Amino acid sequence: MSLAMEKLDVRPLSPVLGAEVVGIDLTQPLEPTIRRDVYDAFCRFQVLCFRDQRLSKDQQIAFTEQFGTLERHIARNRGTDNPLVHTVSNLGADGKPSGKVGSQEWHTDKSFRPEPSLATILHAVTMPPEGGDTCFANMYAAYDALSDAEKAELDRVRVIHSWELSQQKHGRTATPEEIADAPPMSHPLVRVHPDTGRKCLFMGVHASHFEGRPMAEGRARLAALEEHATQPHFVYRHKWRAGDLLMWDNRCLLHRADSNFDAARYPRVLHRTCLRGTAPA
Ligand code: OGA
Ligand code: MN
Repeated sequence: MSLAMEKLDVRPLSPVLGAEVVGIDLTQPLEPTIRRDVYDAFCRFQVLCFRDQRLSKDQQIAFTEQFGTLERHIARNRGTDNPLVHTVSNLGADGKPSGKVGSQEWHTDKSFRPEPSLATILHAVTMPPEGGDTCFANMYAAYDALSDAEKAELDRVRVIHSWELSQQKHGRTATPEEIADAPPMSHPLVRVHPDTGRKCLFMGVHASHFEGRPMAEGRARLAALEEHATQPHFVYRHKWRAGDLLMWDNRCLLHRADSNFDAARYPRVLHRTCLRGTAPA
């Protein structure tokens, strides 16, 4: 199936979310009408895939900035050639595959920030022969599938997102500097997407507990909600090809990396930029 957006060739990738946009070279600036169509398709399909791209880091920054304000991730990238583009990889300090794959838990990027990322743009540079997928779960569909009673209750809940506590889940202790940089943050559990006006669940690995309620209760509820929200019928699994550029909407998705490849043998390298978002409401 192909959908005629004004000028754009957009082909859904799954029944639940995701679409491929065909025939655009992202090294070039987008015409304003095309850019609007891309953004509309992004809001509608939540994940857009552009195949066979080959963007330099500067070109990826230029592509990203057509849709808003680039987020900076300087701290983790000091000393790299272009600190505004984060390299996601399984390589160790020696440049060889380390066996480790990051971001394997369901999350939405920087949800512990006051203004979590609007979008993440990930460009596949080197991929394993197969596997190394990224999975996405549709948080509109997960919300819509709740009972009316659950919706009414959860609509009023606020959640504490915490870098410190999500690091503890991984057996790591956040440093005092990290905690000072990312103090616990309260966000509504159900947010209204600022572009579509639709309600969706906002949670993931940094979501710790329900504000003002016993910690254990909130944690158990969040775990149950995540299990609900990431059932196979809410999930699209992206099987990468080198050259893919994915742009996803962090406001209404959870995502995670899958380590379904031999990460001690094959390199997996992607370039990442993010767009700044707004406070969830
Ligand atoms: C990210 C991320 C998942 C992956 O870049 O934010 O979660 O599959 N990546 O590498
Ligand atoms: Mn992520």
